[in-house]
Amino acid sequence: MRFIGVDMTPEMLARARTNAVNAGYAQTVEFREGLIEALPVASGSADVIISNCVINLSPDKATAFREAFRVLKPGGRLAISDILLTKPLPAEVAQSVSALIGCVAGAETEEVYVGHIRDAGFVAIELQRRPVGEIFDLASHGRSCHQRGDHGIWRRASQGGCGDDL
Ligand SMILES: C[S@@+](CC[C@H](N)C(=O)[O-])C[C@H]1O[C@@H](n2cnc3c(N)ncnc32)[C@H](O)[C@@H]1O
Repeated sequence: MRFIGVDMTPEMLARARTNAVNAGYAQTVEFREGLIEALPVASGSADVIISNCVINLSPDKATAFREAFRVLKPGGRLAISDILLTKPLPAEVAQSVSALIGCVAGAETEEVYVGHIRDAGFVAIELQRRPVGEIFDLASHGRSCHQRGDHGIWRRASQGGCGDDL
């Protein structure tokens, strides 16, 4: 099995490569510089795509999901986590750089976000909702997505195959 990691910053790629070597995965993991809106990965080549708190950072989520669909093999799976909105953000939060970095300012409502997934061609979309605490408070403390623990929503979708759509 082979794994490909994608990030747009050389700094994150360098860190990831070091971590892979230290963890003993240097032979199976490869890291590529690129954008999620233009993945540096061949069409129809991946079994699974995972993403944790990155798509909310994209200014073009629709393209990011179309790219995921392109890269997956038929029947391939997408598993992602992101924060979604239940109501519009206050302007000062929506325009805040720290809120963007905290995966909050770029968040969409469930309807819009899932609409992008469906429009990209995915089917069998499953949602796993997590309790949403005081996200703004957590974001203002600069905690990472991991540290937020159970705040957010997991989504699973398939590039074809059977199952119930939303
Ligand atoms: C919140 S961190 C990801 C956290 C990580 N997935 C984890 O689970 O700990 C966001 C990362 O996404 C990268 N990123 C943001 N927008 C991107 C884009 N459009 N294309 C590729 N990478 C992007 C950033 O460089 C940064 O390394």
